[in-house]
Amino acid sequence: MTRTQLVMANWKQQGSEQTLKQWLSEVNVPELTAISRVLCVPLPYLATLRQQRAALQSPVLAGAQLVSAWTGGAYTGEVSAAMLSEFGVTYTLVGHSERRQWLLETADSRRAQLAALWQQGITPVLCVGETAAQHQQGQTFAVLWQQLAEVLDPQPAPGPLVLAYEPVFAIGSGQPLSAPDAQQVHQQLRQLLQHWYSAADCQQIRILYGGSVNSNNAAEYLRYPDIDGVLVGSGSLKADSFNALCRAIASAVTAKTVSLI
Ligand code: PGA
Repeated sequence: MTRTQLVMANWKQQGSEQTLKQWLSEVNVPELTAISRVLCVPLPYLATLRQQRAALQSPVLAGAQLVSAWTGGAYTGEVSAAMLSEFGVTYTLVGHSERRQWLLETADSRRAQLAALWQQGITPVLCVGETAAQHQQGQTFAVLWQQLAEVLDPQPAPGPLVLAYEPVFAIGSGQPLSAPDAQQVHQQLRQLLQHWYSAADCQQIRILYGGSVNSNNAAEYLRYPDIDGVLVGSGSLKADSFNALCRAIASAVTAKTVSLI
């Protein structure tokens, strides 16, 4: 079993068209082609992302941070999965805690977003994670179970899935969950997934860790068997630190592969 390691950059509501062009050319370094890299830009930059990826023959894949729960129609301000697909988007975040908290996205909406993405052949990256209070009260497992069940029950539509485990208190706080603690949760998540997927399929589903990942700590996560990549916010905004992060991950991945042989 091999799961290709994935590094996802999430720019959130940050960046500009100019910084995007510069960033893409600066991350276009040949030694990083062994890992998959995805950039989730704000929606207005998708056209520039498509154009620059083509011009640079960039291996960085196009990602989006949101998708409409509806497939089309009179829904002012919404952007459908088909529209994302037109711009070459191959991965899209679903249920990021900032959208759950500030945009009040519901479980029904998340479930519909997954279905809409699968219909267009886009891989959803389903974000799950407990709050600090839930963590302190030992509710992590119960919360994750509920967050998975409310979108996957009774049976998910067929389609590839990536999970991103992001403890809410670790996002943007500079206080990441330690790699051994993250591994423990990832292992539990992989077991939970067996409720909906076959054991073999669960081995194919990539589970990313997110929350205050940077170039200094990224490699540590990738040493663990159930951590298949990272979702990075602020650590992805500057091309040089993102390159350093990806280089650290690439060497950790090589070490992990060698130890598996
Ligand atoms: P952070 O954000 O890396 O800035 O903590 C991660 C995320 O929200 O996906």
